[in-house]
Amino acid sequence: MQDQILAVKQAAASFEVQNEEQLEAYRLRFLSRNGEVGAMFKLMKDFQPDERKAAGQLMNEVKVFVEERFKSLEQVSHSNSATSTSSLDDPTLIVSPQARGGLHPLTTMLDEIKKIFFRLGFTVSDGPELEDDFHNFTALNFPPEHPARDEQDTFFVKKSEEKDELDLVLRTHTSPVQIRQMLKQEPPIRSIMPGRVYRNEAVTYKSYFLFHQVEGLYIDKGVSMAELKETLITFAKMMYGSSVKYRMRPSFFPFTEPSLEMDIWWEQAKGGGRWLEILGAGMVDPNVLKSVDLDPEIYSGFAFGMGIERSAMLHYGIDDIRLFYDNDLRFLSQFN
Ligand code: PHE
Repeated sequence: MQDQILAVKQAAASFEVQNEEQLEAYRLRFLSRNGEVGAMFKLMKDFQPDERKAAGQLMNEVKVFVEERFKSLEQVSHSNSATSTSSLDDPTLIVSPQARGGLHPLTTMLDEIKKIFFRLGFTVSDGPELEDDFHNFTALNFPPEHPARDEQDTFFVKKSEEKDELDLVLRTHTSPVQIRQMLKQEPPIRSIMPGRVYRNEAVTYKSYFLFHQVEGLYIDKGVSMAELKETLITFAKMMYGSSVKYRMRPSFFPFTEPSLEMDIWWEQAKGGGRWLEILGAGMVDPNVLKSVDLDPEIYSGFAFGMGIERSAMLHYGIDDIRLFYDNDLRFLSQFN
């Protein structure tokens, strides 16, 4: 008889519970109205009157054991079970705040730019940040020893010592990816090339030694200046709204001829406004086409390059470029 009582304890002790379902099975088997604990108390009448006191005590001990085990199993299976977070069981509980990651504002900006050019039929390509003199300068029609190479405040990584060796530089713009793309792919080429660029400039609120550009290149038979203008105007309208005011000014780059710069009118909230340069562009210089063995009599094309930081500063009203690189959560969390 006593064995039957202890058997209940034994069964409860070895009953495995890992989740809510098993917990409910435990409850049904031992603690429900027809459960084993209840049935155990019915054995009382089978004991001799003088045994009943001891039997009752033992039964109570077993009951307390089974109930206590239920309580501790309850906690385990709650924390194991994904469907049962405490705030769902009890909506009045205060949920501890969870930090949430988000995209860096420059990533968001680049995504916007990419989306626009995807719609215009451009693909995305990529090139190395450590470049050689040929791709960064020579193939782009920078004359040898020309001061333009210094104008770009180049970080020289390795000066050539041998005659047929090239200087290594941190790329000063994304234009060398144009060269790589033309060497890799037969026209038609219609691609944008985003990436980091480096310039040895003093760090101030408006300049930093690294920033991001998006290059664009379109090469095919009979590409015209009109197509360049149309592409840039379409971009400006999609990026800044269809009522954006823009202008194009003649400019100079060694790798485009003719060249232009595009400005957009930036309306100040407090009234007035100013012209802001957003990109450089032009028709790919015939010398550049020759440097990658494309015949300028057959092929023509246009290229453009824009800074991402500049656009993001305009877009979000950020007045110090260094904020992008400080990794300060008080700044970054504003964009999510
Ligand atoms: N590479 C130029 C710069 O960094 C921008 C540019 C790209 C201009 C393509 C014309 C064509 O300033």
